[in-house]
Amino acid sequence: MTSVTSIQSAGYSVFIGPQALGDLNSFLQKGGYNKGKLFILVDEHTARHCLPSLTAQVALLEGASILEIESGEASKNIEVCTRLWRAMAELGADRQSLLLNVGGGVIGDMGGFVASTYKRGIPFIQVPTTLLSQVDASVGGKTGIDLDHLKNEIGLFSVPQGVFIWPDFLKTLGRREMISGFAEIIKHALIADKGYWTQLQTCNIADAVVWEELIRHSVQIKNEIVLADPKEKGIRKALNFGHTIGHAIESYFLENDKRQLLHGEAVAVGMIAEAYLSFKYNDFPELELNEVTSFIKSHFSYVEMESMADHRLLELMRHDKKNEKGALNFTLLNRIGEYSINKHATVAQISEALNYYREAAI
Ligand SMILES: NC(=O)c1ccc[n+]([C@@H]2O[C@H](COP(=O)([O-])OP(=O)(O)OC[C@H]3O[C@@H](n4cnc5c(N)ncnc54)[C@H](O)[C@@H]3O)[C@@H](O)[C@H]2O)c1
Ligand SMILES: [Zn+2]
Repeated sequence: MTSVTSIQSAGYSVFIGPQALGDLNSFLQKGGYNKGKLFILVDEHTARHCLPSLTAQVALLEGASILEIESGEASKNIEVCTRLWRAMAELGADRQSLLLNVGGGVIGDMGGFVASTYKRGIPFIQVPTTLLSQVDASVGGKTGIDLDHLKNEIGLFSVPQGVFIWPDFLKTLGRREMISGFAEIIKHALIADKGYWTQLQTCNIADAVVWEELIRHSVQIKNEIVLADPKEKGIRKALNFGHTIGHAIESYFLENDKRQLLHGEAVAVGMIAEAYLSFKYNDFPELELNEVTSFIKSHFSYVEMESMADHRLLELMRHDKKNEKGALNFTLLNRIGEYSINKHATVAQISEALNYYREAAI
């Protein structure tokens, strides 16, 4: 058994491993929370697959009030928040209440936002249940919702009381969702750890023992970065590798009601396109570009985007929160495991990168 069971973040701990729900139980007992003040946010999938194991292992949660929303990115909006605030008010939630967000990144981001704004802020806990939220979204204190289809446009930095990662939740997660989470793992390796990248080439993500190792490693990488720069003034932008183009693609698919594209699937496209920008304009070696493209291609299906989409994708990129003084801001790779932040690319260069994706990733 691996030794680290908790990682210290900015004012809270991240518990990882088979004992994580036991740790949650002790945490709630120590905090003196009473049943009437505990609220659990779920969607229909986590209500079915995760809530039973949670309440079986965390006795205090048996009497908690359950708030359920419809699953999916389309729920991450202000209307759903209003319904949640109203339900909490009706159920008597107050500043002594605690909200537990039990689900993927949608539940975690929105639940964190709802808790942080309700009565000027009540405490919350993250219990991430997807690979993506276990390796990335639950750590770092970014909470928020989408504005129409603009990703995470409204929100705030707000840290949870604790993060409890129980890898067994992943047993019921579909393969497509697993691979989507794998995108953030790939990102962590590309920006910070060449050895991790090499390990990913041969690891079998269908193996539960492997997940736990990957979760721990990825949380460590993400946590180190957010501890150094909690509010994304500088190096935290490293975590946006693949996301300038990735978020625009995610928004584009959301607004066009096309085949639903998962966050990690959009980021996978973004990473290939941004690795190309890195090669063309940041001296990222061609050999490594080919390695990145073929590895991502081997895990993710090709995402068809007609060239007419580029105009809209660029408009969406202009809304990116990372932009400064009107220039589109990118995090690019120098080589695998090293990055540069605040790199700029022109419209023509971005179109070229999207075309590289269309030709190289098919
Ligand atoms: N805050 C951050 O730092 C951060 C980082 C990365 C991504 N995000 C956000 O996270 C979101 C994506 O998160 P996601 O990929 O977890 O998506 P998600 O929350 O939509 O979950 C994916 C699907 O899996 C289901 N599910 C969850 N746990 C399950 C389980 N154990 N078994 C079976 N089904 C389960 C959900 O109901 C949903 O249908 C995006 O909105 C993205 O913007 C936030
Ligand atoms: Zn992401």
